Amino acid sequence: MSNTETAKLELDGQSLELPVVVGTENERGVDISKLRGSTGYITLDNGYANTGSCQSSITYIDGEKGILRYRGIPIEQLAEKSTFVETAWLLIHGELPNKEQIDSFRALLTEHELLHEGLHKHFNMFPASSHPMAILSAMINACSCYHPDIMKLESEDTFESASARLISKVRTIAAASFKTSIGHPMMYPMPALRYCPNFLHMMFSRPNKPYEPSDEVVDALNQILILHADHEQNCSTSTVRMVASSGANLFASCSAGVCALWGPLHGGANVAVLEMLQQIQDNKTDLNQFMEKVKDKESGVRLMGFGHRVYKNFDPRAKILKAASDKVLAKLHVKDPLLDIARHLEDVALKDSYFKDRNLYPNVDFYSGIIMRAMGIPVNMFTVIFAIGRMPGWIAQWKEVHNDPNARINRPRQIYTGHTQRDYVPLEKR
Ligand code: SDX
Repeated sequence: MSNTETAKLELDGQSLELPVVVGTENERGVDISKLRGSTGYITLDNGYANTGSCQSSITYIDGEKGILRYRGIPIEQLAEKSTFVETAWLLIHGELPNKEQIDSFRALLTEHELLHEGLHKHFNMFPASSHPMAILSAMINACSCYHPDIMKLESEDTFESASARLISKVRTIAAASFKTSIGHPMMYPMPALRYCPNFLHMMFSRPNKPYEPSDEVVDALNQILILHADHEQNCSTSTVRMVASSGANLFASCSAGVCALWGPLHGGANVAVLEMLQQIQDNKTDLNQFMEKVKDKESGVRLMGFGHRVYKNFDPRAKILKAASDKVLAKLHVKDPLLDIARHLEDVALKDSYFKDRNLYPNVDFYSGIIMRAMGIPVNMFTVIFAIGRMPGWIAQWKEVHNDPNARINRPRQIYTGHTQRDYVPLEKR
């Protein structure tokens, strides 16, 4: 962004003018790329809460207003009108696809939905108790061993096929890891089925009993995947960009993103929310007592699914999922007492000064698990579903790094706080 605005910094009697970068939504960033060279100083920012790692044109969030847009289109419109495959194309290519583009993208997804038979053997080597996120990360990398061509993405075509391969196979891997964990035979994808119904088929069909998902379940899965598809520079996306900055291939970068997403403070929160609600129900925990624990730092108890580094207002995705949870459970004729507990916790929290003073609101994970549970998705697969949804976002962000002529390997500095110089002490003198 060309701009003449500057920021003045006074350091050790020096006055430094730093350029200010202004984005298309008038966000401002002080460009400190010359800071160390001119002053010897670096900046420190715990958790990067005030630090931009890049300029990006993919996703925009206004945390104060609760706005989320993919390539400028509001998440509310995409959640209502789009499909996950169309949204994936939008994120990766920057525009909504026309009919020819979406048809060829769907054909590529179908072409790449199978796993190499050699990959199938890997599943038999994992213990049944293996966590599906561990399998997902391992198998994404293993895919590249069977498709060496995706290691070097020289052309748009090879990128197209590699990204379609990843978006398509991540479903097949996820379903295979679930089948392995319950000792059921893996189900092959069916080319006649579209993205979401095919995934649900691979998850829930058996050789002797096909599974026909209802439109409600298919629509709910589409919406959940759309809502998770990208979210600017969150922990796992920043991990993908970090790995991409070294020149690592798309599969290695997204496999690293899966590992970062797994953490309970990030994508793993949807599992932690369900476990929290289940525990409250099983132990008949008094909600006000539980909230007192949450507000007591010493307890180490957090209200999972609440709070967000960027949203200091409602997470728009949580709003959509909260509204959808009633509808989906009613259509599936599911009555879930955990939804009532979640609603009650939200009511209590939103009236409590501890949460209001800290701008803590429900985030995407607070209601997503309730809906996935109603769809019959097992809790240990919740974060895998998040990863399937986030895959197009990771691919789009990887591509932005890969195609940026000014991209540099990410290598943050530090302030050293260890021993100053001291001599080696021979073993006999220690
Ligand atoms: C996702 O970044 C993204 O975009 C992520 C994501 C995406 O789409 O990629 O949106 C997906 O990861 C959503 C977040 C899922 N995580 C959870 O729901 C876990 C519970 N939430 C928290 O752990 C926390 O809110 C984080 C991790 C989400 C944000 O952490 P921050 O920004 O580092 O905030 P913080 O820990 O510094 O909290 C600020 C204050 C602290 O109190 P004080 O020290 O000021 O007294 O708020 C408190 C915290 O103790 N606080 C909470 C709380 N979250 C913050 N207290 C109780 N319960 C909580 N959930």
